Amino acid sequence: MKILGIESSCDETAASVVEDGRTVLSNIVASQIEEQKLYGGVVPEIASRRHAESICGVVSEALSEAGCKMEDIDAVAVTYAPGLIGALLVGVSYAKGLSYASGKPLVPVHHIAGHIAANYISHPELEPPYLCLVISGGHTHLVAVNTHTEFRILGRTRDDAAGECFDKVARTLGFPYPGGKHIDESARQGNRFAYRFTHPKMDGSEYDFSFSGLKTAVINLVHNASQKGEELNKFDVAASFQQTVCDMLSEKLMLAAENYGYDKIAVAGGVSANTGVRSRIKRECDKRGYTLYLPEFRYCGDNAAMIAAQGYYDFMAGKRADGSLNAVATLSLENI
Ligand code: KG4
Ligand code: ZN
Repeated sequence: MKILGIESSCDETAASVVEDGRTVLSNIVASQIEEQKLYGGVVPEIASRRHAESICGVVSEALSEAGCKMEDIDAVAVTYAPGLIGALLVGVSYAKGLSYASGKPLVPVHHIAGHIAANYISHPELEPPYLCLVISGGHTHLVAVNTHTEFRILGRTRDDAAGECFDKVARTLGFPYPGGKHIDESARQGNRFAYRFTHPKMDGSEYDFSFSGLKTAVINLVHNASQKGEELNKFDVAASFQQTVCDMLSEKLMLAAENYGYDKIAVAGGVSANTGVRSRIKRECDKRGYTLYLPEFRYCGDNAAMIAAQGYYDFMAGKRADGSLNAVATLSLENI
């Protein structure tokens, strides 16, 4: 079964054809990063306009690269939530039109479920149930993946998402948007024990995260040094910051795995591309004999192959939308 996936929730216009949820026949991503970089982040209005300009070409390219015409496609899957509303609306409107014109069913896909499904592409043997740490620019969740289409959130961030924290720290250190990958590269050249940042203490769920205190601590460190005219070693700051994030993420992930009895662990979302996070979680899983599933680098960030992969499972579970489908800016993974 061939699913055409469409993704436009943030600053990537993407389309992909995936067979049976696992085999990628094409994966086209048109990124707006070069333009959004000029503004230090995503300007929603610009994002919507660029999606509208790119979507026809991106979808045509995804079909032709897969060697398909619309008649070969079994369903159109589209990200409808969560994300920037104007950006989502471009993908949703296009997918509705395409579904209506071609007579193919329309399948609404939750963006975070899509990130999780990236692991099905990279690991054909992976089947639920398992525990997944979702770390993206907008979300940080510990998710019990009960079935391909049923999720329970065990923990979440109380404030900033992990990716947001990477990007803000990167900006403070003078790196362009999105700064996560610059922190990753700099951290490899620095001493991760040069600075010590404290971990947050929180009431409530022991599986929740908080990154705003760490972000503020790094910003204060950099500003205080600049006020005193002191030179900071950026590599050391990046390495120490990344080390603290790795500690926070792996600590909660391992705690949840142990308490809930999971021995299958996955990681998903843009920050799962971080080499420090990947190696740290791998080490912790190896120590405990857990099997770890990480998406290949090209499926960590936003793409449509993950939407088509999740679309396949949603389709098989009977999920359908009609012309009344709307985009939703905020929607829990538990309410889909
Ligand atoms: O999942 P994603 O592409 O978009 C959202 O759904 O939010 O995640 C984007 C986030 C950005 O914050 C970006 O800086 C971060 O993922 N990111 C990284 C790395 N590559 C991307 N963060 C840390 N290290 C990386 N190598
Ligand atoms: Zn994403």
